[in-house]
Amino acid sequence: MKKILVVVLATIIVGAVFAQDQTIKLPAPEIKGGLSIMETLKNRKSIREYSSKKISQKDLSKLLWAAIGINRPDESKLTAPTAMDKQEVTLYYIDHKGAYLYNAKAHTLDLINKGDFFPLIATTQDFVKDAPAVLVIVSNTAVFGENDSYAYTDAGMVSQNISLFCAGNKMATVPRGMMDKDGLSRALRLRSGEVPVLNHPVGYLK
Ligand SMILES: Cc1cc2nc3c(=O)[nH]c(=O)nc-3n(C[C@H](O)[C@H](O)[C@H](O)COP(=O)(O)O)c2cc1C
Repeated sequence: MKKILVVVLATIIVGAVFAQDQTIKLPAPEIKGGLSIMETLKNRKSIREYSSKKISQKDLSKLLWAAIGINRPDESKLTAPTAMDKQEVTLYYIDHKGAYLYNAKAHTLDLINKGDFFPLIATTQDFVKDAPAVLVIVSNTAVFGENDSYAYTDAGMVSQNISLFCAGNKMATVPRGMMDKDGLSRALRLRSGEVPVLNHPVGYLK
């Protein structure tokens, strides 16, 4: 009886230690702070060195909202434009423990898969592994049929929002095309037509 109790308790403790939230509710994004748009543009550059400090929930909330959050709730429209307002771009937040889909409507991160997917994103660029998180921009190329270049262009809009947010808020990032797209598509459980277009290691300045 004692043994069973110990095993049950150990299972509960181990489970609690390694548990990952299925859904992370982010605080409402503060729509203030940061540099002016002109100072931000002056600062914008690719940075490939990151502090290992975890991004605070407050900053993460602002970063994700700036990337592709809802800025006009009445119309469900986004901070990033999309061709014909198709809103076919999705954003994934990946830390060293798992991958989450950003749900702009609920302003939550929804767990997609557990594991360390940084090697799939870094490939030969080891600096990526030093970042506390990576944002992966996925676009659904099937939405536009033959005009699938719109899907890639729309991903670029989100990428620039991320770069500008970081430049204006003492954070570091670089837009990257390099990644193991097949491996990452499997890790993110992407559907047919969905393509990881760009990724952004993100963190505080070193
Ligand atoms: C579409 C795209 C893909 C890129 N891919 C990578 C990449 O895989 N790895 C990397 O280190 N930088 C990558 N970069 C960053 C460029 O190397 C960088 O923007 C360029 O050297 C200019 O430097 P700057 O951003 O500081 O102005 C990419 C940039 C763009 C726009």
